[in-house]
Amino acid sequence: MKQESSPRIFAAEQRSRWRSDPPGIWSLEGADLDSVPALSILTTLWDQPRWLEAYHLYDQRGSELFEEICRLPEYYLTRTENSILESHAADIIAAAPVQCVVELGAGTSKKTVHLLTEQTRRRGRSIFAPIDVSVSALLASQEAVRRDFPQIEFHGLHARYEEGFNAIEKSLPTLFVFLGSTIGNFNHTDFPRFFRALAAAMGPNDFLLLGADRVKPVKLLEDAYNDSRGITAEFILNVFRNINHRLHSNFDLDQMRYHSWYNPEWQQIEMFAVATESQQIRFPEMGASFHWRRDEKILVEISRKFEPLRLQEQLRFFELAPVKHFTDPDQWFSVLLLKKRG
Ligand code: AVI
Repeated sequence: MKQESSPRIFAAEQRSRWRSDPPGIWSLEGADLDSVPALSILTTLWDQPRWLEAYHLYDQRGSELFEEICRLPEYYLTRTENSILESHAADIIAAAPVQCVVELGAGTSKKTVHLLTEQTRRRGRSIFAPIDVSVSALLASQEAVRRDFPQIEFHGLHARYEEGFNAIEKSLPTLFVFLGSTIGNFNHTDFPRFFRALAAAMGPNDFLLLGADRVKPVKLLEDAYNDSRGITAEFILNVFRNINHRLHSNFDLDQMRYHSWYNPEWQQIEMFAVATESQQIRFPEMGASFHWRRDEKILVEISRKFEPLRLQEQLRFFELAPVKHFTDPDQWFSVLLLKKRG
């Protein structure tokens, strides 16, 4: 197959590392995004208390369940953030004079449509480059952009976030977009690591648009993560189906239940699987096993909630200066525009 010539979104030293296949979808040569991180799963499961990294939640079924969560009445995050973007896209784009929009995650491109609409209206031709580990999500985004925004040059980066943003040319004025309050799923180690890496990859004319869910009354928060239809429970427990499939382990989903609560001290929702009977969990290929005691919890995901002023102060440590703050009438969610300090 004839290779497409490398687009100008890539930094010069990165160009030879990326291949497009299918056209418009770029992958890093030699990267294996499907490699089974068996050892890292065992490491967190052997920790005390036991926990899992949130990205194991997103197999095919997990991604479908998450889409369903986004439509739940209790899960206010998606529609609230969408309404903020819809109302303020013009102000955001006016404040960020860029030629390129890079979105971390392609699944959220529906909300990004508001930004792309304003960007084309104001600046005509532009580039849109979502970064995602799912080729099918990138293809869906590519199809929608080609159909609705013929003036936009589309380049999907099939990569992990960090590999993707490190490849972007620093002199190309770019708006990095990270929506959905996904930063809330980062623990206290991942959070600074992520922002240090992202800020280092940003050029002097770059901006970051960040969606962050806010601290609010406990009942609203707890209902959003414990919906009446049990979809969140299914989403969280599905992680064990995924791990069984990948590692041939024997977690028994009929002998566990979902439990979540808002931890006010840490300002985070904590989502657990609790063993309803004791189980001997085996990982045959690793020759490893552990005893999951009845009533013992495994922390599957956290979802941190933020105070926007405090978050802005924290982000200053990573050379990200606040430009504008957008919120909804109830002040449930914040969209922050930040600029890399030159
Ligand atoms: C993807 N992330 C921002 C969601 C959240 O709200 O923390 C994941 C989620 N977990 C359960 N419900 C939603």
